[in-house]
Amino acid sequence: MKRNLRHGVVELVLGNIVDQDTDAIVNAANTKLAGGGGVDGAIHRAAGPTLKELCLQFPADDHGRRCRTGNVKTTPAGNLSAKVVIHAVGPFYNERYADRAHTQLRQVHELALKAAIEHECRSVAFPAISTGAYRFPIADAAQIAIDAVCTFLDKTKGISLVRFVLYKPSQFDVFAKSLDDWKPKH
Ligand code: APR
Repeated sequence: MKRNLRHGVVELVLGNIVDQDTDAIVNAANTKLAGGGGVDGAIHRAAGPTLKELCLQFPADDHGRRCRTGNVKTTPAGNLSAKVVIHAVGPFYNERYADRAHTQLRQVHELALKAAIEHECRSVAFPAISTGAYRFPIADAAQIAIDAVCTFLDKTKGISLVRFVLYKPSQFDVFAKSLDDWKPKH
């Protein structure tokens, strides 16, 4: 499924993030940038051990954090065909702090797109950040991710393709509905 925005296309596919031929691949990382399961594990396995070495070059704070929640760090992509991996730390969802989680999830998508432009990437693949181990409700996550990306491509030049790579058909359907329903706010 595809939707044309003023400055680029948003596409949804069912698949594996590591198989994408985009210039940039976004990782659903943690604050330590130390690898993990899910998308993070798949990306590190496919990219090879260099990726972790590159991640560990970012300075850590006293808690071992190399990237704060809601932020991104960019590295080369090791053995992946992409130019860069944009490590995006989405929020762990806690209902009591839902507003903050919504803001952080939106921000992480916007910052990933800005980072892609800074690294001269024209195409970007995103997983459904925070919807796995970080338990963000899928319908809300889809709406936020789609709105952040569509608004960006409606207003900003630089990225010609954003591809959301959904792992499960049920997630694809939720993202498809959000993309279908999306309307610009102006
Ligand atoms: N390609 C695309 N999507 C995938 C893949 C894959 N190879 N593997 C899993 N997914 C989907 C899951 O179905 C989920 O909907 O990605 C979504 C995000 O799930 P997670 O990878 O668990 O990411 P997140 O919820 O952001 O949690 C991040 O998990 O692995 C750790 O180190 C990571 O601590 C961090 C946390």
